[in-house]
Amino acid sequence: MELSNRHVVITGGAGGIGSALAARIAAEGARAVVVADRDADGAARVANGIGGLAVEFDAGREDSVQELVRRATEANGPIDIFISNAGVPGSLGGPEAPDETFDEAWRVNVMAHVWASRALLPEMLERGEGYLVNTASAAGLLTQVSSLVYSVTKHAAVALAEWMAIEYGDAGIRVSCICPQGVRTPMLELAMEDAVGAAALSSGGLIEPEDVADAVAAGLREERLLILPHENVAGFLALKGSDPERWLKGMRKLVRNARTGAAS
Ligand SMILES: NC(=O)c1ccc[n+]([C@@H]2O[C@H](COP(=O)([O-])OP(=O)(O)OC[C@H]3O[C@@H](n4cnc5c(N)ncnc54)[C@H](O)[C@@H]3O)[C@@H](O)[C@H]2O)c1
Repeated sequence: MELSNRHVVITGGAGGIGSALAARIAAEGARAVVVADRDADGAARVANGIGGLAVEFDAGREDSVQELVRRATEANGPIDIFISNAGVPGSLGGPEAPDETFDEAWRVNVMAHVWASRALLPEMLERGEGYLVNTASAAGLLTQVSSLVYSVTKHAAVALAEWMAIEYGDAGIRVSCICPQGVRTPMLELAMEDAVGAAALSSGGLIEPEDVADAVAAGLREERLLILPHENVAGFLALKGSDPERWLKGMRKLVRNARTGAAS
């Protein structure tokens, strides 16, 4: 889908990947860009810089997602592209994380995309056109070794995009899922505090939010399901699919080496 003349909503747009996406999509000639975030000041700053509309919202609540869709539609007409990008890192470690941490990550990293689809699909299906995008992560394809919460919720976000693409593709609905590895944003800082997380993220090379925006602009134009800003992710995914045992051995080695290095 060409981005020029489109009405695009970007959640988590106050900073990091979301603000780079907002700037890039505005530069591509979108007719209206809505920057939504729980950080109202940050959203306003980004929106003001590109002549967009800022909306304060909470991705973890369905009524707030519905209200975002309503306000954007009221201001600019039907939404062409909805990029559900807001995300939370959860916590480091495994099943010992409290239920509250799982619950927040489940709501923001998964249910926000479900709620957006629920609010948008009736109008998009009637029009026979619309684009649903979510930001998952390479952690949704390959596992983020330092965080169970993040891995599980991001896998669910990838599954959601696949399901939507299969079910609604013939009805004119486009679906993309953005799956970067390490990107230099505030969220990366938590993962980098952990030796295992740092080793995994660094192995793919750290890129800038603007590099993700470049990949997304190209991926949306080509209507690709998986947008992979890091080149090595497709290769790892192929290896995991063709030889999962070898892939597991490699991942265990990476974890072992990171822990040994951290201890020494
Ligand atoms: N940075 C990375 O290395 C990386 C890698 C892969 C995927 N991602 C994903 O990219 C997306 C953007 O992350 P980022 O790295 O730019 O992080 P970030 O922390 O810089 O930005 C996340 C934005 O989402 C907003 N947000 C969080 N919870 C919200 C909520 N409940 N309601 C509304 N807004 C909320 C925050 O205020 C913030 O502006 C996330 O989904 C993240 O999981 C990041």
